[in-house]
Amino acid sequence: MSDSTITLHDHGKTLVCKGEHPNLLALFQQHQLVVEYQCREGYCGSCRMRLVKGDVIYSQKPLAFINEGDILPCCCLPVEDIELAL
Ligand code: FES
Repeated sequence: MSDSTITLHDHGKTLVCKGEHPNLLALFQQHQLVVEYQCREGYCGSCRMRLVKGDVIYSQKPLAFINEGDILPCCCLPVEDIELAL
């Protein structure tokens, strides 16, 4: 997977995902970003956030309900440059 740029609108930050993290949540935590989460398995939905632009891929289909345009960062990775309402 090639590097993806992750633009965080609310934080005004840009991170680079080089594919060394198992999921987006792990990348956020490495950068000390406070993100709500519980199960880390796509089950509870607490990490849900809005994907403004781009696309992600899930390691396995999440069980939690997600609205169109939302993602669960605990179990997905970007497949291209993405923008998040975070
Ligand atoms: S932490 Fe539970 S769905 Fe992401």
